[in-house]
Amino acid sequence: MKQTDDHINVAIDGPAGAGKSTVAKLVAERLGYIYIDTGAMYRVVAYKALASGISPDDTAEAVRTAESIRIELRPGMQRQQVWADGKDVTDVIRSASVTSNVSAFAANPGVREILARKQQEMARKKGVVMDGRDIGTHVLPDAEVKVYLTATVEKRAERRFNELPDGTMSMEELREDIARRDDMDRNREHSPLVQAEDAIRIDSTYMTIEEVTESILDICSNVMNQGVEQNE
Ligand code: DC
Repeated sequence: MKQTDDHINVAIDGPAGAGKSTVAKLVAERLGYIYIDTGAMYRVVAYKALASGISPDDTAEAVRTAESIRIELRPGMQRQQVWADGKDVTDVIRSASVTSNVSAFAANPGVREILARKQQEMARKKGVVMDGRDIGTHVLPDAEVKVYLTATVEKRAERRFNELPDGTMSMEELREDIARRDDMDRNREHSPLVQAEDAIRIDSTYMTIEEVTESILDICSNVMNQGVEQNE
């Protein structure tokens, strides 16, 4: 990992439900950095494609959707606001149908290439905290801080269960859904979910959000201090 100026890039990867977006947003706030939820970008493509009757198997049409769409990520009070072609899609991209189809769209190499390029452009000036599955390995291989955040499937299902309105999905359904998405994300051919060799692994199973946030901030300040010492 190398550092080029006083702002760094922070990559946080890991499986669904490990707490990446909550923690990444807090880390970004504390550093005064921009938070980028790359999962939301894959969700936008899945949402737009499904709304136009395009199935994940229709790979060429899915790529065309990714190419033509204008995605904007705007800071919000509670969570990041996601806009697609000038329309607020923050809530609709979290629907059950998008959630169950998004991994299949994310397995499309053409879609990945387009979104990875957009993400690299967003991080060009540094000062971003980006979360996803392939940020440290593929999108920002030179990120100064790389974290692989994980937790057991049971714990991740439990967290999702507590976030969802009552009766939406049972714990067992959530466990199965998470295990299925892990499997697709880890076993896809193009930039699968895998820990980068130089990433620091944090298992959040028995940690609070604050503890995880503090550990990542500690890693960031160590890296920033090293950069200052090297420049002296
Ligand atoms: O983090 P999430 O559940 O919102 O991600 C939605 C999907 O997008 C998930 O199936 C994995 C995929 N994804 C990806 O393949 N690469 C990323 N950088 C981010 C998300």
